[in-house]
Amino acid sequence: MAVSGGIAAYKSAELVRLLRKQGATVRVVMTHSAMQFVSPLTFQALSGHPVHTELLDTDQENAMGHISLARWADALLIAPATANTLAKCSHGLADDLLSTLYLAASCPVYVAPAMNQAMWHKPVTQENIQKLLSHGVTVIGPAQGDQACGETGFGRMSEPVDICRYLMNQPVVQCLSGLKVLISAGPTREPLDPVRYITNRSSGKMGYALANAALKAGAKVTLVSGPVTLSAPVNADLISVETAEQMHAAVMSKVAEHDIYIGAAAVADYSPASIENQKIKKQSEQITLTLVKTKDILADVAGLDNHRPFTVGFAAETHDLEHYALDKLRRKNLDMIAANWVGQVSLNPPFTKGGMQLDKVSDTPRRTSEKGGFDSDQNALQVYWNTGSKNLAMTDKNQLAELLISLIAERREQKTHEKNTA
Ligand code: PMT
Repeated sequence: MAVSGGIAAYKSAELVRLLRKQGATVRVVMTHSAMQFVSPLTFQALSGHPVHTELLDTDQENAMGHISLARWADALLIAPATANTLAKCSHGLADDLLSTLYLAASCPVYVAPAMNQAMWHKPVTQENIQKLLSHGVTVIGPAQGDQACGETGFGRMSEPVDICRYLMNQPVVQCLSGLKVLISAGPTREPLDPVRYITNRSSGKMGYALANAALKAGAKVTLVSGPVTLSAPVNADLISVETAEQMHAAVMSKVAEHDIYIGAAAVADYSPASIENQKIKKQSEQITLTLVKTKDILADVAGLDNHRPFTVGFAAETHDLEHYALDKLRRKNLDMIAANWVGQVSLNPPFTKGGMQLDKVSDTPRRTSEKGGFDSDQNALQVYWNTGSKNLAMTDKNQLAELLISLIAERREQKTHEKNTA
């Protein structure tokens, strides 16, 4: 366990105790800043081993330097992981024992971020997190709540008991081992003329988190992505597309090779009937756009007679979530549907009615209690299948993706079992 310098370092002492109680052998590395918060003696007493603090300490290098520590560990947990530590690890800096250990480690790496909520939401921190995820690091938390700085929000280190439970629940057998998963993610762009397009608010975070989670579960992953600013997981095959038509073509050309299809993309339901060759000029007070329905990728995948994969759709709804999700599940003949509330950002009516977000127009009241769905780091899902449902509560999209992936694996196995015993 590597402890970096945040107030949550005091919680890591409890974490060492809990991990040892579960039978783990724990060796602790501390940064100099971490030692400002908690004494190495505390960790020494709790772990039963000397604490490692120096990169260039002759004694420690001989006994258990960063390379031997990296070779020794079955897992590396960085808790708390400060914004600075995350930045260093994501950029491959190695100027202290912790960051050098991270670089040298070939075992699974887990980070439990802890920082002020504004620091957590800063785009650069989120970019660093995405980078670490694409390098195969698992991010645990952070949790939401009151912070030591007096603010409230996401950024608290997850509770030691939750981190411990998470580590101890890591599946020994990867639940998607040997399977191929095709995932669509992000928005589509439907061009109107050479400079304008119709799109939606999808950032791709949910789909990319699913790709990472599927890789971690042992699957081979193909990710068909609309235009986003995220880095794709290094081990996934990425196919970048722009329009709904291109996404349809990419998915249909690959789907037969895959065991599971997850449609997390926010595909435009309508696209312009024609694309102007030149920029549309501003002349009349009003113009009318003619839009035509796009091909439904999800329905086409689920309707395949041969090589139909286990098909999971998403439903993004501003109202009557359960009603519309169940309708999509049945009408599109899906195996599962993951429904989420969207559109909780308050938009003024002229924008939603007359603007470019034409494929997600709604003039009914929006649910505003929790923020999830489009372009948020968190989300909650209500998952339905023909014989049941499960609620996955609001949490970080990476954690949510892991929960959804294990539910998909469970349901797929159940379906295969039912087919074999029918
Ligand atoms: O990308 P993020 O910012 O992280 O946001 C995540 C998300 C909100 C986009 C994601 O969680 C989500 O809900 N994705 C589906 C969005 C959507 O378009 O939902 P829908 O209810 O309009 O469509 C239902 C399903 O049909 C979806 O699986 C969609 O991929 C699929 N579809 C829709 C239209 C179409 N032409 N082809 C499709 O395959």
